[in-house]
Order: sequence, then C-alpha cells, then structure tokens
Amino acid sequence: MPRFVRGLTEVGAEVIGAGEGPAEALPPGLRRLLSGWVQIPSWSDEPACVQAILQALGGARIDRVESLWEPTVLLAARVRQALGLPGMDHDTVLGFRDKQLMKERAAAAGARVPRSARCRGAEEIRRAAQEIGYPLVGKPIAGAGTASTWACQDEAELESHMAEWQHVAELSVEEFIVGDEHTYDALCIDGQPVLESVTRYLPPPLVARNEEWVSPAQITYRNPHIGPLLPGVALGRRVCQALGMQTGIVHMEWFRTATGEAVLGEIACRPGGSKLMDQWNWAQEIDIYREWARAVCWSACEAAPRKAWHVGVVFKRARGQGRIKAIHGMERLRADLGSAIVEEALSPVGTPRRDWKQTLLSDGWVAVRDPDHDNCRTMIDRVVRELQLDAG
Ligand SMILES: Nc1ncnc2c1ncn2[C@@H]1O[C@H](COP(=O)(O)OP(=O)(O)OP(=O)(O)O)[C@@H](O)[C@H]1O
Ligand SMILES: [Mg+2]
Repeated sequence: MPRFVRGLTEVGAEVIGAGEGPAEALPPGLRRLLSGWVQIPSWSDEPACVQAILQALGGARIDRVESLWEPTVLLAARVRQALGLPGMDHDTVLGFRDKQLMKERAAAAGARVPRSARCRGAEEIRRAAQEIGYPLVGKPIAGAGTASTWACQDEAELESHMAEWQHVAELSVEEFIVGDEHTYDALCIDGQPVLESVTRYLPPPLVARNEEWVSPAQITYRNPHIGPLLPGVALGRRVCQALGMQTGIVHMEWFRTATGEAVLGEIACRPGGSKLMDQWNWAQEIDIYREWARAVCWSACEAAPRKAWHVGVVFKRARGQGRIKAIHGMERLRADLGSAIVEEALSPVGTPRRDWKQTLLSDGWVAVRDPDHDNCRTMIDRVVRELQLDAG
C-alpha cells in the first residue's frame, strides 16, 4: 500500500487515506505522503463508513476513490457513487467479489469456468455435490486467503467440512479443476489491458495454504505472451471485458489443464498480494506502483516493459515454534547464486515466528531472477530444499 501511495504522489496526486486506525498508527514514511486521513468505523459497516467519509471530506474536491484491498473494494464503489465520481459502480465491483456471479458473467461471455453452484446450508451443499460430482471444491462465495476452502474426493470428505462451513454464509461448490495454477495480472485503462504479467504457483495455493511443511514458491514469466500462456492471457482479457473492468489492476487466477485449455479460478479488481507486484516489476523492469497511479489519475501508461527476467520467490516457514533461532543454508546460496538473488528478507534470528496461516509471507522470502526459465526453476528448487529456518 505505501508503494502505491508513493506512486500516486509521484504522478501529482494529493492523497487522503482512510482506515480504521488513527493516523498516528501509520508508519511515519507513509504518513508523510498523505495530505489527510479519515478514520472510519469498522470497514464492514459500509453505510457508516460512507457517512464518516463524506462528513470528514466536507466540501473538499475529490477526483478519484480507490481501494487496493479486497475487503474494501465494494466500500470504495459506494463512496464513488455517493460522490458522483467516475469508476466502477457497486454492481460491477460485485462481479469481482462474488465468486458465483463472477463465473456466471464470465461464462456468459464464453469463458471456460468450473461448473458450480451457490449454496446456503448443508442441504444445498449436498444437493450441489450430487449434481456436480467428485472431486469438488467448496469455498466461501466472498472468500480470500483460501480460508475455509477444501477439496473433497467423496461424500465422507464433504461431510467432514460441514461443521466449518456452517459459519460461511454462502458457499461455492465447484467442479475440481486439475491443472497448473497461474495468475494473470494486468493494468487496465478503460477496460483495455496495457501491461500484463503471468505467474505460476508452485504448488497450487490450496496445497500451500494447508500444508505447513511446504515452501510456497511462484515464478513470474519474463514474457507472458508465449505459446503455453496465451490461453490464460486471452481468458484474462475476455473476463475483464465480461465483468466490465475499467481502470486499475486485476488479479486473476487460472488453471492450465493437460490439454492446454485455460479455466478461470477467480478474478479480483485489485492487485495480487504477497510479492506479485514486485515480481512483475523485476521481470519487466517497470514500476507498476507508479504506472497504476498514472493510469487511475491520468488514464495513461508510460512504462516500456522489457520482459527481461524470470523471477522466482520462495516463502519459508520455520520448523518449530517460538522465535527464530537459526538460519541454515543461506550463506551457501548467497555464495553460489550471487547477484541472481534480487531480494532476501528472512525474519532475523531472535524475532517471533509469524503465523503462516495468516500471511503467505510467512517467516520471510528469497527472490531470484534469471533470463533463462530452467535456471530460475533450478534456483527456486535449491532455495526450497537447502534453506531452512529453525524456531524454538
Ligand atoms: N474449482 C477449483 N478446482 C481446483 N482448485 C481450486 C478450485 N477453486 C479453488 N481451488 C484452489 O483453492 C485455492 C483458493 O481458491 P480461490 O482462489 O477461489 O479462493 P481465495 O480464498 O479467494 O484465494 P486467495 O488465496 O487467492 O485469496 C485456489 O488458489 C486453488 O488452489
Ligand atoms: Mg485465489
């Protein structure tokens, strides 16, 4: 978020921030970039937030309202509409939030989506499972962070998750898609993608988010416009159009099946998290933070993507609980990989372990790059296997 705010100030915008906490709680570097701050009540109370924001702004002239965070993209649409500003309205943004509506709108435009049903309660889940068949996936309609998301091979597995799903207002029950999972990230201006990037998840988030021993990795391709990725890029463009994307960044997830077909996973109208934006920057030698800002403020893009590097990031989870007490293997990797390491951000010895369920960043990461795909994959594998953090 601070980097996108930095981008806004670089293209000449004055930025008023809004959030639940007081301005004093912001990092000083970020606070200096803001010309104002509105403290809102709980972001989940949309009407109260809209009212608080309108009241705090008084008659100030506002040109744009943007949210880069999944839980508040709909709130931003409400504020835009209340102020009569351009940008996507509530119904359009809903297509990027409601996983069933998203699939219906994408399918109506000819995109391949998993067969699915919107379910409220155990009976509807069981009925949908019978119609769709196994294996299937159950996930919250308004989900994020792979929370309460489970693959089920059979009825017994479905029943084992019912208790957890009781707390989910609406569940999407979907055909399980077998394939390699990728992202399609794009900066759009008036619905047209002007910068595009594709990243492969290793392994799929569903596995990485449920198995603590995994070191999740992801590789951003230096050039998204190559044969095997083209169906995903075409799908991304089609879905953007189907959902009425206007100006901003989209983050889509898609599966590449054994036949090379691209199937939609989901799409959000905000930037992808973890290290995705930095990977895009390193891969294409651009500044996506500034270009996003230029796009939303001036409907322009001045980046000249170089498509230079494959960029891999590996997230590490320490073994044991408590504080990080040792880091093994990093010295050797540094000596061998040298300048191919673009960033190293491991939690230092003595700091507490982070909750790997809460943050994909876990106990830190290492980013590597190489113009050659196989070299990049080899480096990723080495970081996965040779780097180990111990806690205790
Ligand atoms: N139909 C499906 N077939 C196979 N795997 C799926 C399917 N739907 C979801 N998954 C797996 O579950 C993960 C989480 O699903 P999804 O991306 O829809 O939820 P999310 O909670 O919004 O994710 P995020 O972690 O991106 O916020 C996906 O990344 C994928 O690995
Ligand atoms: Mg997802």
